[in-house]
Amino acid sequence: MSKRLCVLLLLLFGMISGRAAGPTITIDATTSSAKVSPLLYGLMTEEINHAYDGGLYAELIHNRAFLDNAQSPVRWSVVQRDGSAAAIAIDRNQPLNQSIPVSLRVDVTQAAAGRSAGVANEGFWGIPVKPKTRYRASFYAKASPGFEGPITLAIESSDGKTTYASGRVSGVTSDWKRYELTLDTGNAPTTADARFALTLNRPGTVWVSLVSLFPPTYKNQPNGFRPDLLQMLIDVKPKFLRFPGGNYLEGDTIADRFQWKKTLGPLTDRPGHMAPWTYRSSDGLGLHEFLLWAEHLNAEPVLAVYAGYSLKGEYVKPGPDLEPYIQDALDEIEYVIGPATSTWGAARAKAGHPAPFTMTYVEVGNEDFFDKSGSYDQRFVQFTTAIKARYPALKLISTVGFEQPEPRRVRSVVPDMVDEHYYRTVDTFLKMSRGHYEKYDRKGPAIFVGEWGAYETPFEPWNERSRKEAPTPNMRAALGDAAFMTQMEKNADVVVMHGYAPLLVNVSPGARQWRPNLIGYDALRVYGSPSYHAFKMFSTNLGDEILRATTTDTEVFVSVTRDSGSGRVFVKLVNATAAAAPVQIDLTGAKTIAGTATALTLAADPQATNSIETPRNVVPVASKLTGIKSGFTYTVPASGIVVLTLETR
Ligand code: AHR
Repeated sequence: MSKRLCVLLLLLFGMISGRAAGPTITIDATTSSAKVSPLLYGLMTEEINHAYDGGLYAELIHNRAFLDNAQSPVRWSVVQRDGSAAAIAIDRNQPLNQSIPVSLRVDVTQAAAGRSAGVANEGFWGIPVKPKTRYRASFYAKASPGFEGPITLAIESSDGKTTYASGRVSGVTSDWKRYELTLDTGNAPTTADARFALTLNRPGTVWVSLVSLFPPTYKNQPNGFRPDLLQMLIDVKPKFLRFPGGNYLEGDTIADRFQWKKTLGPLTDRPGHMAPWTYRSSDGLGLHEFLLWAEHLNAEPVLAVYAGYSLKGEYVKPGPDLEPYIQDALDEIEYVIGPATSTWGAARAKAGHPAPFTMTYVEVGNEDFFDKSGSYDQRFVQFTTAIKARYPALKLISTVGFEQPEPRRVRSVVPDMVDEHYYRTVDTFLKMSRGHYEKYDRKGPAIFVGEWGAYETPFEPWNERSRKEAPTPNMRAALGDAAFMTQMEKNADVVVMHGYAPLLVNVSPGARQWRPNLIGYDALRVYGSPSYHAFKMFSTNLGDEILRATTTDTEVFVSVTRDSGSGRVFVKLVNATAAAAPVQIDLTGAKTIAGTATALTLAADPQATNSIETPRNVVPVASKLTGIKSGFTYTVPASGIVVLTLETR
C-alpha cells in the first residue's frame, strides 16, 4: 500500500473517536492568555541560492551588463553556424555609461542570410520557454560604420537548431540606442533547454549592453517578479518581509555592502555589486522592488539598515566615522516612510509610489555578534539615538539575541526587540520546543526569530557529499520546524515575529550555496518543501488570541490559538514519533462547539520529501471530522503535523 494511501486511510478511519485515551490536552477557551502578535509569520529574504537573479526577479539574461567577470563574458557564447564566424570580447573602450563601464564587442566576420553569427546567453540554467507566451526583449547597441543591421533576436534551442520566437531590429547607428521588441512563442514546446541569441546575417561589428529578456511578470509589472514564485509566497500570507539580509546586507567588505542608493532608478544606473554568496547581484531587484514585493504580499517591510560591520571583519568605528552610514540609513528610512515632499520620499514618488509604506520595525545590521571588535554596542546606540530622534515611532531591532553570550549583546540601551537565529538539528529543535521561550522575560525586549530552520545533517559547504544533499528539507526536518513553530506560537506574546531561512533556492547544479531552504525551483518549475507546507498550514490558520492548553503525558507538541471574531479555534498538533498518538482533547469554556471540524494533515515517512521532479509527494490533506464535542479523542498520525479547526462560540 502506498504511503499516501496509508495516510488517507488513517485520516478516514480512527483519527477521531469517542474512546478515552491516556494523554490529554485541556484547552481553556474561557479567556485568552495573551494576544498573538499580528506580525508573527513572515519572510526572511536575501540574495542567496539565486533567490533574486535566477529566481524571483524575472529577468532571464544572466550577466546582462557583462560585469559579472572582468576578464570574460561569462554565461555568453559565440554563435557560429554553417561556416559563419564571430568573436566576442568585453570592451572597456565602449562603455554604456559611467555606471556600466563596459560593453560586449561582437565581431561578425562571416555571415549570410540563413547563416547568421553572433552571441547567445545561456540564461539562469536555461531560458524557460512556454507556448503562446510574449517575452519582452531589450538591449542597447551601437555599430561600426557601415553596419546598420539587422540584428536578429531569438529564443532558440540551446543547440541553435530550433527557433521558438524571434524578431529583428535595424537602423543601428554608431551611437548607443535602446532597442525593444516583443517575442511571441506561438506553439513552441515547454522547455528550459533554450538560449537567447543576438545574431547578424552579414559581417559587421556591434557593441551591446544591458541585454534583457523578461517573460510575463506578476501583474505585468515592468522589471517585475516571476509569478509562480511570488504566488507561493503570497499563499503563505506573510505579515512582514525582512530584507535585504542576512549576510547580503553586510557584504564581505564594507565596499560590497548593500548600497541601496545604487539600486534605484533606471537599470542603466544600476551596476550591481559583488554579493557575499559567491556571485554578483544585478541589483535589478533593488530597494524599490523590495518595497513593491512587500506590497504584493500585503506585508510590512522590516528594513535592515547597514550598521557598519561586514562579514570578513571590517567595521566602522563608532563616532564621527559612523555618521555617514547613519545618514545613509536615515535617508533609506525616509525613502520608505517619508512624505512625498521629503527628498527621498520624492525619489520614491518619482519611482511611482507617492504614498509612504507602512513600517514598524528597522533592524540595525545583521548578526553583529560576529564583530569581534565589540563595537556593536556603541554602533547600535549611535544608530538608534539618531533614528529615534527623527522617527520616534519606529521600533529598532538589535541583531544580537539571547541565544548569544551576554558580552556580545547590546548593554548600553535596551533594544525594542532582539533578533535570534537558530540553525540547529531536528533533535535540538524538538528539545527547544519544550519550553525554550517560556523562560523568557515577559517585560522584554520582544523577540524576533529572524532566521530559523531545522536540519538533519549540518551543511558543510567545503564537503562535496554535503553539497550534494537535497536542497530542501524532508518530512523529519519539517517535524522539527513545526514543533518549534508551536513553541513560538505558544509564546507569541514575546515572540513577535519569525521567519524561516533561507527562503528560496534555485536547485540547478551550481546555483545554490546553502541547505536546507524552504522553496525550490528551476527555470520552469517550483515546489514547496514539507517545511513550506507546514509553515503555510501554521501561518494561514492563526487567529489573534493564544488559548492556554495544558497537556499530560504526551509527546505531541501543541499550540492553540483562536480568531476572536469568528470563534474559530486552531489546534496545532505535531507528532514527531514513529507511532500514531491518540490524544484526548478537552475544550472547556466555549459556549458552543460545532459537531464538525476540519483537519489539515501533513504526514509522511520522515525521510519523504518533495523535489523538482516530485513536487507533491508530501502535501497537506484536508478532511472533515464529525462527532466533535467538548471532549473527544483524536489520533495524530505518526510523523504528522495537524491543524484542527474547531468552530466555537
Ligand atoms: O540564511 C543564511 C545566512 O545565515 C544569513 O545570511 C545569515 O544572516 C545567517 O548566518
